[in-house]
Amino acid sequence: MRKPIIAGNWKMHKTVREAIELVNGLKRNFFDEMEIDIVVCPPYTALSEVGEIIQDSQIRLGAQDMHWEERGAFTGEISPLMLKDLGVEYVIIGHSERRQFFGETNETVNKKVKSALKHKLIPIVCVGETLVERERGDTFSVVREHIENALVGVVIEKPRDLVVAYEPVWAIGTGVNATPEQAEEVQGYIRELLMNLFGEEIAEGIRIQYGGSVRPDNIEELINEKNIDGALVGGASLDLNSFTEIIRRVETAIRKH
Ligand code: PGA
Repeated sequence: MRKPIIAGNWKMHKTVREAIELVNGLKRNFFDEMEIDIVVCPPYTALSEVGEIIQDSQIRLGAQDMHWEERGAFTGEISPLMLKDLGVEYVIIGHSERRQFFGETNETVNKKVKSALKHKLIPIVCVGETLVERERGDTFSVVREHIENALVGVVIEKPRDLVVAYEPVWAIGTGVNATPEQAEEVQGYIRELLMNLFGEEIAEGIRIQYGGSVRPDNIEELINEKNIDGALVGGASLDLNSFTEIIRRVETAIRKH
């Protein structure tokens, strides 16, 4: 069985003080060893403080994006070396908000994924269709294009080196999550694509998260699907109680198996 991975994407929320408060709460709630990987992705400004607080806990540190170069004249950008320096282990790449508002393309995603792997950061690669694309019946072709272009030429040594997040754009921040059946259908397809790219053994072990309006009241049915190995949580990860509850429910669900 794949170890579930729940990541909180805080987006452009939380000052350093607010971030410290939230992560201290999470740390108090998760002092036991759990069979779940828990990741928080604060804004860059809070990475250092949050990283220090979670050092002696099972919560891991993630960033929300990075540049592919190690250094250079790229005003406003953050490099993989800078993330490593702060103890970052995961990095979200190709989030739909980056694609939509900041010109991220499959090509830049590909460069970032390769760079992350080179620096031993685990990329959480986001893919997913818009509402228009779904209604046109293009969901599978869009997801295929995202996966194949983002991962072209990418070599991974072991399944844990990579996480994929299926995030239908129409479900992000809208309160309308994909049904477990809708998510499973696409995520099963993503696993097939990963098999073509990396072979069966590796593809079987890669964790595929679902993201888009995940909440305590829908996580359980989502996580019970065969190809849903966790969640990338936005809004609900900003609140201590709801993020905690999501993780507790995943724990309960996996115990039942
Ligand atoms: P949401 O965001 O949970 O607020 O829908 C998910 C994401 O963008 O990763």
